[in-house]
Amino acid sequence: MTDKKKIQAPRGVHDILPDEQKYWFWVENNFREAAQAAGFERIIIPTFEATELFKRSVGEFTDIVSKEMYSFKDKSANSLTLRPEGTAGVARAYIEHGMQTMPQPVQLYYWGPMFRYDRPQAGRYREFYQCGLELLGDYDPIVDAMLIQTVAKFHKKLGMQDIVIKINSLGTERAKGKMMTALGKLLERNKKDLCADCKLRLKKNPLRVLDCKTGKCREILDKISPSLIDSLDDESKKRFTKVLEYLDEMRVEYELDPKLVRGLDYYTHTVFEVVARSNEELSLGGGGRYDTLVKQLGGPDTPAFGYAGGVERVIDILKQQALAVPDLIQSDVFIVQLGDRAKPKAIEVVEKLELANLRISSALGRGSIQTQLRLAAKLHTPLTIIIGDQEVHDKNVIIRDMEDRSQETVIDRDMVKITLKKLEEKGLRVPTIYESR
Ligand code: HAM
Repeated sequence: MTDKKKIQAPRGVHDILPDEQKYWFWVENNFREAAQAAGFERIIIPTFEATELFKRSVGEFTDIVSKEMYSFKDKSANSLTLRPEGTAGVARAYIEHGMQTMPQPVQLYYWGPMFRYDRPQAGRYREFYQCGLELLGDYDPIVDAMLIQTVAKFHKKLGMQDIVIKINSLGTERAKGKMMTALGKLLERNKKDLCADCKLRLKKNPLRVLDCKTGKCREILDKISPSLIDSLDDESKKRFTKVLEYLDEMRVEYELDPKLVRGLDYYTHTVFEVVARSNEELSLGGGGRYDTLVKQLGGPDTPAFGYAGGVERVIDILKQQALAVPDLIQSDVFIVQLGDRAKPKAIEVVEKLELANLRISSALGRGSIQTQLRLAAKLHTPLTIIIGDQEVHDKNVIIRDMEDRSQETVIDRDMVKITLKKLEEKGLRVPTIYESR
């Protein structure tokens, strides 16, 4: 007997249905425009990579690698992992394609699904989308500021309010190491009260204790957590001050957060996170400098800086703040027809309009005019052309404005010309869908 039990999507993954698409196109379009304006070019990296790549970059004792990876063996017994983030893949691609021989910096942007075995809850998924920027081959502090400015512009373009950029510096690799030792010593004294995970973290990488969410560990951290910025050496401080000065000059608002360390191991110097005031626990995005990563992965010594945003979380804020998001207009004209003689004429009309480079939709097989008009309204088509037996006889068509519902009868010869004029009056003669260009 076949099992008839309904199969549902696995926990923590979600369908993105047609009604949601306008948000997705809108965010992607605004992200792409902000990235391209700042000189970033698109890269598409694989959804899965060698497991080793993430162990060596994100860090073996981070939550992401130790608890959240979707790893599997393929049929040749290679250990592979669904990417939990994009930076490692981009760094790997930089090395693999010899991008250090290209003019530096190399600026890349990406958009795509990431996978983490996270605890599903609002804004936390097991498959989620990230939009990311990576800039490789430049150590100048202005680069940090420029990329953060691009991130700020992206949020501004979307009209988002009450967004804060939190920023900190972990300092050079050496300064970070010293800070880790100092933190380790302080935590050692409170070891017995740490959770089991943190006892292990303390041994392997004390910095990761700062990611812990359990009440007791947080209490200890609040008590002992040294103001990280104070432990920076002069070189690190000088560099960080420069980044902040550039941000001031660019009039990018930020908030210093000495406790910000980020949950991935590859960072040195500047780190930052974007949060909404309404929920500072759930970051909308984050990033920082990763000057040692490319070398660590076997490539040349290459300083780098990057960011990734969580698309679902950005969309949640757009909805929460009831921000204007344009409807998706997938076609310029919808053809409505009724009656046997109208069909061949409708086909002809479609051909003529397509020759004029217009995007046409229709429901030639559908029933009543009302049903067809409802479909046109659902698709947000600005104009419909209505053809019945009468219009075939009179050699004309009816053009209906879907916004104000006005109708005009137009002779066949003028149909294309008047349709174009009406669309132009609506400012819709250029591509109206937020699609990849
Ligand atoms: P991350 O902070 O791990 O950084 O992730 C970036 C963003 O992805 C988060 O701020 C959040 O918006 C979103 N995100 C993370 N996990 C989830 C989840 N389970 N569900 C929904 N959204 C989530 C990175 O991934 C680094 N690669 C960023 C970077 C780029 N650093 C340098 N370059």
